[in-house]
Amino acid sequence: MKILIKYSSGTGNTGFIANELQKHLIKMGHQVESSNIENEAMNSEFDMLIIGGPIYAGNVPEKLIRYVIGNIPDAKNKKAIVYTTSTGLLNAHGVLSISKKLHIHQWKMNTVKNYSWKPENK
Ligand SMILES: Cc1cc2nc3c(=O)[nH]c(=O)nc-3n(C[C@H](O)[C@H](O)[C@H](O)COP(=O)(O)O)c2cc1C
Repeated sequence: MKILIKYSSGTGNTGFIANELQKHLIKMGHQVESSNIENEAMNSEFDMLIIGGPIYAGNVPEKLIRYVIGNIPDAKNKKAIVYTTSTGLLNAHGVLSISKKLHIHQWKMNTVKNYSWKPENK
């Protein structure tokens, strides 16, 4: 399966998770491209989409929300995974915020996950 990971990351934690996901998915036999939303234009030739973002003040950064609204194509029920990284799990609403926007574009949510981040995870 061709998988695209797009993420936003201020201090590197969300990018770290993107790299780990990419390594594991490649080991499973998938073709995986991964890049920061600020790096490249969106490649539309993929079967599954993974979106990752950090939680700042309870939600993902505005620039990630704008990126999803402005760049994600309609999917016709292809699968998507959304994850966020944060210090805690209580004030972390970004996964729902992004997945609702993907749902509007006919993405079928496979997984919605928040990682509670501790420095020793790296
Ligand atoms: C300005 C700022 C605001 C944050 N707000 C929250 C928050 O509301 N809830 C939370 O659980 N973690 C919060 N955190 C912690 C980050 O979500 C966590 O460190 C995350 O993994 C950062 O991801 P990144 O390294 O990809 O930028 C905040 C961190 C920063 C720098």
